[in-house]
Amino acid sequence: MREAGPDAAPIVVLLHGFPLNSAMWMPQIEALQSEWRVIAPDARGVGSSDLGQGQYTMELLVDDLFAVLDGTSEDRPVVAVGLSMGGYILLRALEREPDRFRGVVLCDTRSAPDGNAGKLARAVGVRRIREEGLAPFAHDFLGAVLAPDTGVRRPGLRQELQRLILENSPVGVSGQLLAMVSRTDTTDFLSRIGVPTLVMVGSADRLTPPAVGREIAGRIPNSVFVEIAGAGHLSSIESPVEFNRVLRKYLERIRPDH
Ligand code: MLT
Repeated sequence: MREAGPDAAPIVVLLHGFPLNSAMWMPQIEALQSEWRVIAPDARGVGSSDLGQGQYTMELLVDDLFAVLDGTSEDRPVVAVGLSMGGYILLRALEREPDRFRGVVLCDTRSAPDGNAGKLARAVGVRRIREEGLAPFAHDFLGAVLAPDTGVRRPGLRQELQRLILENSPVGVSGQLLAMVSRTDTTDFLSRIGVPTLVMVGSADRLTPPAVGREIAGRIPNSVFVEIAGAGHLSSIESPVEFNRVLRKYLERIRPDH
């Protein structure tokens, strides 16, 4: 887990995407830490979190988030940002215990669970990681999620992300695949989200395209939808300057002491 910023400042929690870890949020931690208390947990199985036996459910990842909040937020409602898998965790956490949150940012994510093709692809992923290790899986994942333009604008980024993924345990990454299969459908819940919500999507996101984010935002009463031009599925990493500009504008609007 990464923590930065003044203890007494309002809290922003950053929930990373699969199969990364809290290190993916470094550009946001650096941008926010002078004014916000920033907490970026590692989801179970990756980074500095517990590996356990590698058998995780989405409910367990939500329990883990609540344990982090119990330990750090002193009952102050937090603003939470979730990218992709982080968004799955956040939507379910919000459904279970809405009073813990005062604002929500959903990035490159969806409320629908995996369909049949998605479930079968997860099973192939688990088998492949067991048989071949993490490197080929990580290579193909990055090929599928990064925008073509990102490779041109940020030539070293793909290798950097490959290294970051390979810091994680193959058992932990497989466990997260299983957790994502076990997630429930939070679509009906979207209309009951009662806090100001920002929905952000990379305009070149092929996994959770802008139409998905626009649909999510359309169901949430107090929401704003923003496309990050040129970014793929990992919008916070691929276009950090624009992502941070949009995020800071939203945070400024809902900051409790303003
Ligand atoms: C992520 O970026 O967290 C994953 O691609 C989400 C998923 O595989 O559903």
